[in-house]
Amino acid sequence: MNILITGGAGFLGQRLAQALLIGELKQTVTSLTLADIAPLRDAALLADKRVRGVTGDLKALLGDGLMQDIGGVFHLAAAVSGECEADIDVGLRTNLDTTRALLDACRASIQAPRLVFSSSLAVYGGDMPDVIADNTLPQPQNSYGTQKFMCEQLIADYTRKGYLDGRSVRLPTVTVRPGKPNKAASGFMSGVIREPLAGVDAVCPVDPATGVWITSPRRAVAGLIAAFNTPRAQWGSRTAMNLPGLSVRVADMLAALERHAGARVAARVRVEKDDIVSSIVGGWPWRFDTVRARGLGLSGPAAMDELIAEYVADYPDAVHG
Ligand SMILES: NC(=O)c1ccc[n+]([C@@H]2O[C@H](COP(=O)([O-])OP(=O)(O)OC[C@H]3O[C@@H](n4cnc5c(N)ncnc54)[C@H](O)[C@@H]3O)[C@@H](O)[C@H]2O)c1
Repeated sequence: MNILITGGAGFLGQRLAQALLIGELKQTVTSLTLADIAPLRDAALLADKRVRGVTGDLKALLGDGLMQDIGGVFHLAAAVSGECEADIDVGLRTNLDTTRALLDACRASIQAPRLVFSSSLAVYGGDMPDVIADNTLPQPQNSYGTQKFMCEQLIADYTRKGYLDGRSVRLPTVTVRPGKPNKAASGFMSGVIREPLAGVDAVCPVDPATGVWITSPRRAVAGLIAAFNTPRAQWGSRTAMNLPGLSVRVADMLAALERHAGARVAARVRVEKDDIVSSIVGGWPWRFDTVRARGLGLSGPAAMDELIAEYVADYPDAVHG
């Protein structure tokens, strides 16, 4: 099967591509098309004959026949939360209009393709129960969450109509993300670990008592692949599925950093409250009941220490000082 990953040059897109090429689906995946507005740079992916990197705006690429011969889609291309909050048009264009164009391209395919959509815990907010279940009604409190929720609903309806076989997965914040900071409001959750480990000072823009819902890159990718791999009958409801994660306070994340790297490294984090970030992140839930995902064999990290250990193992060159 030829599989398309939109946002394939992004953080999770590249991690997902690597996992698909070596993991349990490697016999199923005959070729991988990685479509992204940014060029693909990962040397191993570029060298793999099964991989085709396509660069351009997704909507334009779809107009040029991107969906031809595609049997499965992981739809990851998106503008991140900070960008969407700063400019609603960017968010609507990238997250809603582009998704609708992708869904219509799926609808025009001869065989309804299977599509996994990376939604987010950001669909939740406002007046919420203490523990969120898959069927808790999302009431997004920011543009990014609103756009994700609209896409979930469209995917559910296109699935009901038989145009595609859609599965929306709500990811916790994926931590620790390598590389440079991005414009996600949640970006500091990686920054407060990544930067000190690289010998650089970092700012924590929220009260350290803030609770967050996080998972690791490996577990996020495993969740996306499980969503693709699960038979429709077992997948069940068209409602999006919350992936398991770790409920942790930011202070506990910083304590784990100190356990791992010592007080000198942990002291590189200083708290400087940012009202916008605090209001976005503080409005997200951080306790979830993920019984449906656990039924598929998925699990969240046991502790923050595991996420730091995974980052250090996966990106040893990023740790120094
Ligand atoms: N990383 C997280 O913590 C997290 C949490 C919840 C949900 N998600 C979702 O998972 C997906 C992947 O996240 P990520 O962390 O890899 O983000 P990322 O920003 O690294 O990757 C997204 C990619 O989409 C591409 N893109 C944006 N607009 C495009 C367009 N118009 N056409 C083609 N490509 C376009 C970007 O260039 C980027 O490479 C996103 O949909 C995101 O909303 C991520």
